[in-house]
Amino acid sequence: MDNQSNDFLIAQRLYDCNFYEEAGIHYLKALISSKNDVVSILMLAYLYYRFGLTDKFNEIIRLIDSNRLPPVGLYRHLKVLQSGKMLKLQSDFCGDNNLFSKDVITNLYKTYLPEIKSTGLYDDKDFFEKSITRHFDYEILYFFIRLLRPRHVIEFSPQHGLSTVFIYKALQTNNRDFTFATFDIVDSPEFYERMKGYDIKLKITVGDALVTIPDYLKKNGLVGNIDLCFIDCEHTYEFAQQYTRKIMPFLGDNTTYIIHDMCYCPEYPLTRIFHYGDASPNSICGHAGSYGEAECLRMFFKRQKGYRFFLTHKLFGGFGLLSPKIDLNMDLINHLLSEVDGFRYKISNKPNHEDRKIPCLLIAMPENVCEGISSYKVVTRSFLR
Ligand SMILES: C[S@@+](CC[C@H](N)C(=O)[O-])C[C@H]1O[C@@H](n2cnc3c(N)ncnc32)[C@H](O)[C@@H]1O
Repeated sequence: MDNQSNDFLIAQRLYDCNFYEEAGIHYLKALISSKNDVVSILMLAYLYYRFGLTDKFNEIIRLIDSNRLPPVGLYRHLKVLQSGKMLKLQSDFCGDNNLFSKDVITNLYKTYLPEIKSTGLYDDKDFFEKSITRHFDYEILYFFIRLLRPRHVIEFSPQHGLSTVFIYKALQTNNRDFTFATFDIVDSPEFYERMKGYDIKLKITVGDALVTIPDYLKKNGLVGNIDLCFIDCEHTYEFAQQYTRKIMPFLGDNTTYIIHDMCYCPEYPLTRIFHYGDASPNSICGHAGSYGEAECLRMFFKRQKGYRFFLTHKLFGGFGLLSPKIDLNMDLINHLLSEVDGFRYKISNKPNHEDRKIPCLLIAMPENVCEGISSYKVVTRSFLR
């Protein structure tokens, strides 16, 4: 391994252990041995910002600006932080069907968490032990499949099948006829082990999803009929561009998309985040590993009229994987801890701890589908009274 990538990896590891100053030194070393390491530059800028070294922070941003890096991912977030006057609490809320309100989320947890517990999913090590708050995403995925009761569902891609079991168990519990197919370029033995553990007879359709999904839709008469599509695949801009052209147009006008690894970056710097409600498509952003895909989807969904957007990163908050830094929504977390039997929230006792595996699910839902479940809000209100 060359010096540059070695230093970069050491820096990342130190950063993950909260040794920020030591990490900074290795980011610098990585930079000295390579002129093109954008992530090291961005991380250094972020660390300067964090330690209040504004001049150095601004200097780096000027340098990056002069190289005309497109404002994506962490760079976009740094530009937002730099852009001056912080706004007071502002709602990034675009409509009146507030599916991500405190009441509705509490009711979803109260209604469906006991089901997750009864399926055995709750005790799956990969679900809870391996992450601090990312389990929120699998819970919300399950809740929305129960709430929407979709009939035709696809997923790309399952890998070891953790998302797959959440989708499958929710569909089974809906007690309605359904079709579900999952697509991956590799066939993983761990997938089949997991399915066996949950008594699910499901096979991966192996191959490039850009080819296998259109084929599957045609063969099964499902073109235009997919109610829900879960996406957690290759996170590059190029791949997202391909799937928005070769897969999405054949799914349907009323398809709900649930997409993993999408973060929230408010359009303006805010002194406090308004966590509840939906978000504008402009605020869809990636983390270090997914900023390409997020940029493509941001543009795609801006053109897509009649959709509403909900982000678990906005709802719960958090900072990790070099996402934008969003305050934790302790108002919601404390409320769920006191109201919902079995709700879990792990707190690390490490100093300066920040969660590395943040909630980052995007739900893009057609307006008419949202309206179809607006009665849920009314039910919730009376349920909680
Ligand atoms: C992040 S993992 C999925 C994790 C899974 N959803 C979970 O929650 O457990 C991404 C997967 O995308 C698959 N993949 C990458 N490119 C693909 C392509 N062109 N077609 C199908 N699958 C692909 C990879 O093999 C990998 O298994």
